[in-house]
Amino acid sequence: MRRNRDADWNAWPVDDYLTENYRGLHPYDIGVIRHHAAVYRRFAPGSLFRTLELGAGPNLYPLMLAGAAARHVDALEPSAANVRYLRGQLTHGIDDSWQPFYELCRSLDPALPESCAEALRRVRIVRGTADDLRPDTYDLASMHFVAESVTEDVDEFTAVCAAFVRAVRPGGTLLAAFMERMPSYRIGTGPVWPACPVDEAALRAVFAPRTTSLRIARLAKDLTLPEYGDTGVLLLTAERPSPAVPPVQASSSR
Ligand SMILES: C[S@@+](CC[C@H](N)C(=O)[O-])C[C@H]1O[C@@H](n2cnc3c(N)ncnc32)[C@H](O)[C@@H]1O
Repeated sequence: MRRNRDADWNAWPVDDYLTENYRGLHPYDIGVIRHHAAVYRRFAPGSLFRTLELGAGPNLYPLMLAGAAARHVDALEPSAANVRYLRGQLTHGIDDSWQPFYELCRSLDPALPESCAEALRRVRIVRGTADDLRPDTYDLASMHFVAESVTEDVDEFTAVCAAFVRAVRPGGTLLAAFMERMPSYRIGTGPVWPACPVDEAALRAVFAPRTTSLRIARLAKDLTLPEYGDTGVLLLTAERPSPAVPPVQASSSR
């Protein structure tokens, strides 16, 4: 069984990954963006002080989506290759291929600024892993294709999800996308990356005891992408429970 530390994340194949997944809008992207924009529209512009994108990779659309509701966005990512790509995009401007993603995000959330550069100005790139997350830090946390795509160990998958939940303050919002039933996978002709096939029942087993208002939606398999062995995408929203308020004691007067 391959665990998270067994893969060389610094060598993540950014170009091949972008070519296979994000050089054009695929049905999965459209489905995730539609789903998430409806969540972000519930928040007034600037009403989330700080949000997290865990395991950001080189994917810019989750960072774009946060650009109206959030004042600060932390993109946490361990891979040197991904961090280099993200820094380049934020410093020198985004690749043209991201523009249709931003247009779709903005058409679904008109509170987003006119320019993508303005939306991404809130983003801070932080090098690190789920182990570096501090509890109670964020108003909202999002994660796209991470916990199930970075280990073959179910316990480690659970630990990443648990750290993700704890990273938001009580009452904070969780937003995530998971590849459904995806086994370990290849990008291009590179090495095999470790993954842990999960279905809706597996997500419920991990998130139901840790969250409230848990909802899981599903996107049908995207046949325009390379064959990763998945059967669809699962989209999750939930909240971290607020601590129970102790019952008010009846005061006794003597
Ligand atoms: C399949 S990629 C997904 C990337 C991106 N979120 C997306 O939507 O395309 C998995 C990402 O998780 C990152 N990763 C690997 N181990 C991690 C860990 N322990 N904590 C957080 N992220 C991790 C990888 O570097 C990679 O960027």
